[in-house]
Amino acid sequence: MEQKKKRENWGTQIGVILAVAGSAIGLGNFLRFPGQATLYGGGAFMIPYFTAFLILAIPLSWAEWALGRHGGRNGFNSVAGIFRQAGKSRIWVYIGGMGAFIPMVISMYYACIQAWCLAYAIQYLTGICHDLGLGSVSFLGNHPGMRLGSSEAYSGFFASFAGLSQNGKIFSNGIFTPLLGCVTFCFLFNYYLIYRGISKGIEMFCKIAMPLLFVCSLLILVRVVTLGNPTGIAGQSFLDGLGFMWNPTRPGTTVWQTLSNPETWLAATSQIFFSVSLGFGLIVTYASYVREKDDIALSSLAAVSSNEFCEVVLGGIMIIPPAIMFLGSAGLTPETLQSSFSMGFITLPNVFEQMPAGQFFGFLFFFLLFLAAVTSAISMLQPSVALMEEGLELGRKRSIALTALVGGIGTFMVCYFSSNALVLDTFDFWGGNLGLFVMAMFQTILVSWVWGDQKMLRELDRGAAIRVPRIMGWVLKYISTPYLIIIFALWCWNNLGGRLYDVVTNRVVLFAILFLMAAVGLFELATWYSEKKWIRREKHQKRLLVQKPETREDLP
Ligand code: ALA
Repeated sequence: MEQKKKRENWGTQIGVILAVAGSAIGLGNFLRFPGQATLYGGGAFMIPYFTAFLILAIPLSWAEWALGRHGGRNGFNSVAGIFRQAGKSRIWVYIGGMGAFIPMVISMYYACIQAWCLAYAIQYLTGICHDLGLGSVSFLGNHPGMRLGSSEAYSGFFASFAGLSQNGKIFSNGIFTPLLGCVTFCFLFNYYLIYRGISKGIEMFCKIAMPLLFVCSLLILVRVVTLGNPTGIAGQSFLDGLGFMWNPTRPGTTVWQTLSNPETWLAATSQIFFSVSLGFGLIVTYASYVREKDDIALSSLAAVSSNEFCEVVLGGIMIIPPAIMFLGSAGLTPETLQSSFSMGFITLPNVFEQMPAGQFFGFLFFFLLFLAAVTSAISMLQPSVALMEEGLELGRKRSIALTALVGGIGTFMVCYFSSNALVLDTFDFWGGNLGLFVMAMFQTILVSWVWGDQKMLRELDRGAAIRVPRIMGWVLKYISTPYLIIIFALWCWNNLGGRLYDVVTNRVVLFAILFLMAAVGLFELATWYSEKKWIRREKHQKRLLVQKPETREDLP
């Protein structure tokens, strides 16, 4: 069913690759990956991580591109509409509705972390100004720049800045606090880019931000690699840091102990999904704006491989070894890390302090992290805006306003209930871990068992310079699907009870979960309404075709 309304498209092929790579490369690569790898056993974590990369990320990314463009060719950009095109039962429409909800949940806390990056970047900038004799204003209220002298001081600074010790800290000095200003700015900036549209907003921004991010990361990487052993403490050299990341055994823990916990497998698989932006509904949505003749097979590979390079090589080396160099392995516990996103804020300032022009590099790093966060954050809003626009026919402005309202409440909760980053971690676990995992599982089933792996391969072949190995259809069907189902079942069996116990015993967590449930209800309501409209429109079209075949041109 073709819609007559003029559809938005990406401007160029390189633009779409950069936009999808931009969606993939984000805080997940530079902050979440090092945090998760550290919390879940270092080298042992890398075993399920690479397994998931090979048998899930590569085939599933192709599946999402194919599914998305197929839906787009049929006039749909929302995940619910795209799933409806491919699935044969109504249930897929409602599962597709979750494809708009899950990225929204992640965007709620993502905006806060994006604001942390911006605030740190500005704080470093004040240090540069101070060094150049341009004034001594300090953005975050201590001395200009970031020169705190010890790992404990950086850790304490971060905890106080992000309000990890007290709920409502973000408002402690009235409403005009620097962090609150940054959160508001980031939130509005993301929505502004979405408002500008696919080509003029998202694509234009990614074309500037991505190359900059890459160059800056390489510069910082070179500095980290040449640091040696800055503290002189045995076991805290750069090589010890690499060993911590890659060695599968840790003192007191065997590989088997780490690998026998299904939560490690869930976390590693979800990290792959989080980082490649799989299971979010993002690639599906972005791919629906790709032209029919564009090469999606190669675009998918380019986006996945650049993401992995940025995650394992850049993110892994830039963050984990410095953490070992300055904090030692004993300093990297769940308690000291506070949240899986905090590592970069606690450890990297130590590195910048040791570097010539450290204030400048610190500014560059956090500013570019901010840019990486923007390119990912905007991709998380698009599925929801697409559902509101397409299903509810609200128009762009009102769709953005409604999405912003729900997102704004969630972001406020993350910022307000900042003690121990409890709401942030709750959203991250139920949305960023479990939600992505379940969505990816459903998507794999949809593509391989319902829509059909052969249709996926045919869609990938359209306009492609490479031929995707035919075995990928088989892998998706007989390896990826059972793999996901088994891990999910084992996780439910072993860990679900504990997670639910945390929900019912902690009032803040319970409140966060109730909010998420209400938001699910809202998104599913929007999906239900959209489906009704689609059915009505299709019936109307059929009637017109039967009654007056000659009026075919006048179809709505
Ligand atoms: N894929 C995005 C990231 O890694 C969400 O941050």
